[in-house]
Amino acid sequence: MGKNVVVLGSQWGDEGKGKIVDLLTERVQGVVRFQGGHNAGHTLVVDGEKTILQLLPSGILHAGVQCMIGNGVVVSLQALKKEIDFLEAKNIPVKKQLKVSGACALVMPYHVALDLARETRRGQNLIGTTGRGIGPAYEDKIARRGIRFADLLDPQYFETLLREVLDYHNFVLKNYLMTSVFDVQEIYEETLALASELLPMIADIPALLQQHRQQGHSLLFEGAQGTFLDIDHGTYPYVTSSNTVAGGACTGSGFGPRYIDAVLGVTKAYTTRVGSGPFPTELTGILGDTLVEQGREFGSNTGRKRRCGWFDAVAMRRAAYMNSLSGLCITKLDVLDSFDQVQIAVAYEETEGYSDSRRVVKPIYETLEGWKSSTVGIDSWSKLPEKAKAYVKRIETLLEVPLSMVSTGPDRKHTIEISPVL
Ligand code: GDP
Ligand code: IMO
Ligand code: MG
Repeated sequence: MGKNVVVLGSQWGDEGKGKIVDLLTERVQGVVRFQGGHNAGHTLVVDGEKTILQLLPSGILHAGVQCMIGNGVVVSLQALKKEIDFLEAKNIPVKKQLKVSGACALVMPYHVALDLARETRRGQNLIGTTGRGIGPAYEDKIARRGIRFADLLDPQYFETLLREVLDYHNFVLKNYLMTSVFDVQEIYEETLALASELLPMIADIPALLQQHRQQGHSLLFEGAQGTFLDIDHGTYPYVTSSNTVAGGACTGSGFGPRYIDAVLGVTKAYTTRVGSGPFPTELTGILGDTLVEQGREFGSNTGRKRRCGWFDAVAMRRAAYMNSLSGLCITKLDVLDSFDQVQIAVAYEETEGYSDSRRVVKPIYETLEGWKSSTVGIDSWSKLPEKAKAYVKRIETLLEVPLSMVSTGPDRKHTIEISPVL
């Protein structure tokens, strides 16, 4: 019997999901992305060689493993082609390994323009989006005026859809956002030119997943972003536009919830967030700067400096039950190596819930002693300093989720396995 495991971010993204999915791929036959788009930046490091993926599932470096892009993902053809060309130039046969759902909503050039113009209009209240057009693409999907990947199979139908949707967006771009408009013919030609090479990868992903299941294969469902960037459960409106929580793995792929065996929550040993929005444990002084430096906390996609802070066990407890986490993977433990003391937020003052992004809370911290020695690259539990063990064990106790893995460096091999999820 195969095992089907969701791997997702339990904080605000960039927890190290890419590394973990890449590592676990050697035990499965398929890897599926189920939400988000090329706003993601997932870093894989194999023997020192770094690859950053945006749209492709992080299993793509493993020959023979099928990679799938599920219906919940919004696809930019430009981004997809760029990523495929980049990897094929390194002799990775992406087109052979990859299947894409025809139901994926497309991210079009006008979505990017809308995203950027709206952010400018929000001024100081900007979301801090990645500027990739993700929000507007999901809006079109939900409004039932979006263009789906499979619509490109019928150029005439595509043209009709494009004309209608551009009629609407051009009006908004010109009269409301006061910016330039798009030409139907130009986008039509540009899109179809890109599509000819990509359309052969269309597949019925739910049927394909069912085939894998019937053959007793194991599958990984790779989340993008993180729990508190979820459109419903995150710090709205400072969120992304998809469901990043575990439930999204099913709706975003067409795989039934009863077939999921485990959910692995990836979390940093501290917290980071890119873009605007509440962040109760944020450190703005020298401690925050140290985390940025030690953790090299700059966005893998946009290069923006990430905001950093202590581990937030209050938020994480919520992430644990909303995602039904069956295992915990704590990453970047090595980043805390030089600290005299490490802190964990164990409660908030003046709050009852988490989802109200307008409520200001003050974390109450528990302080633990730092271990003050290098954990970089450690790959077995017994080699970890006792105080580092105590720190991760304390997190495990606070969250009541079994510790599955600890990551001590960016490379595949810089990993300690405690209780494998598959
Ligand atoms: P993702 O979006 O969740 O896949 O994470 P990102 O790739 O955006 O950000 C994680 C960053 O931390 C990347 O640069 C990784 O190479 C790096 N990384 C992952 N795990 C570790 C770790 O255990 N220690 C250190 N120092 N870096 C890590
Ligand atoms: P990975 O998969 C961290 C953030 C943006 C912004 C908000 C909305 O690498 O963890 P969007 O462009 O999605 O409309 O931006 O979400 N964001 C991420 N933050 N990691 C990501 O992806 C992110 N994808 C989007 O910074 O605050
Ligand atoms: Mg990332």
